[in-house]
Amino acid sequence: MRPKIVAANWKLNKTLEEGLNLVNFIQSKVNEYDDVIKIFCPTFPLLYPIHQVLQKNKKFFLGAQNCSAFEKGAYTGEVSAEILKSVGCEYVIIGHSERRKFFNEYENILKTKLSISLKHQLKVIYCVGEELDQRNQKLHFNVVKSQLENILELTDEQLQQIIIAYEPVWAIGTGVNATPKQAQEMHAFIRETIATKNADIANALPILYGGSCNPTNASQLFSQPDIDGGLIGSASLKGEDFIQIIYAAT
Ligand code: PGA
Repeated sequence: MRPKIVAANWKLNKTLEEGLNLVNFIQSKVNEYDDVIKIFCPTFPLLYPIHQVLQKNKKFFLGAQNCSAFEKGAYTGEVSAEILKSVGCEYVIIGHSERRKFFNEYENILKTKLSISLKHQLKVIYCVGEELDQRNQKLHFNVVKSQLENILELTDEQLQQIIIAYEPVWAIGTGVNATPKQAQEMHAFIRETIATKNADIANALPILYGGSCNPTNASQLFSQPDIDGGLIGSASLKGEDFIQIIYAAT
């Protein structure tokens, strides 16, 4: 059985005090015995303080929203995978559409980030997803397939450290989520694509949905056979909403 995973992508939100308050609130409300893996992905400066308050017995983990394509050295302003690991990160998000769009991160650089992250034992939440006009032109399967190329080049051992997040760009922050049917169809396609490389690993691979996932639509989305949880943006910024999304995954 695949684990259920709910990851909070705070993006560029929350001061240190706000972030600690939110994490403490969520931890105080969450049932110790639920099986959901919960990951907080705050901004870089909040990683270590949040790491210090995480309750592992309640399956809370830490993830970064990005990492440098460089290992170390004279790269002012960058944060490396090794440093992320040293402050308690176990996960890193790579290939988010906002990184692709605003920071020109495409397949070559993502490939480097992927391999550096895996080298430093970070599990990678690798994002894929089409733009609206690509879906309208019925190119969405082709687009996602090409975004999976980097993943298909990994070794079997590396592939087992990957979580895929399907995030249709038209659904991110828009309030318009993919329907459970649309999402399931793409998740099944992603799994089939990975299965061409290794069927057992594809079967065990967590695939998360992201894009306007909220307390109202989460349980319908998460009950689809190939949807193993969510990567949550705006709804992860409110404690009550995020807790309801965690419940929806149980
Ligand atoms: P959203 O963002 O939930 O606000 O749509 C999801 C994401 O970008 O990961």
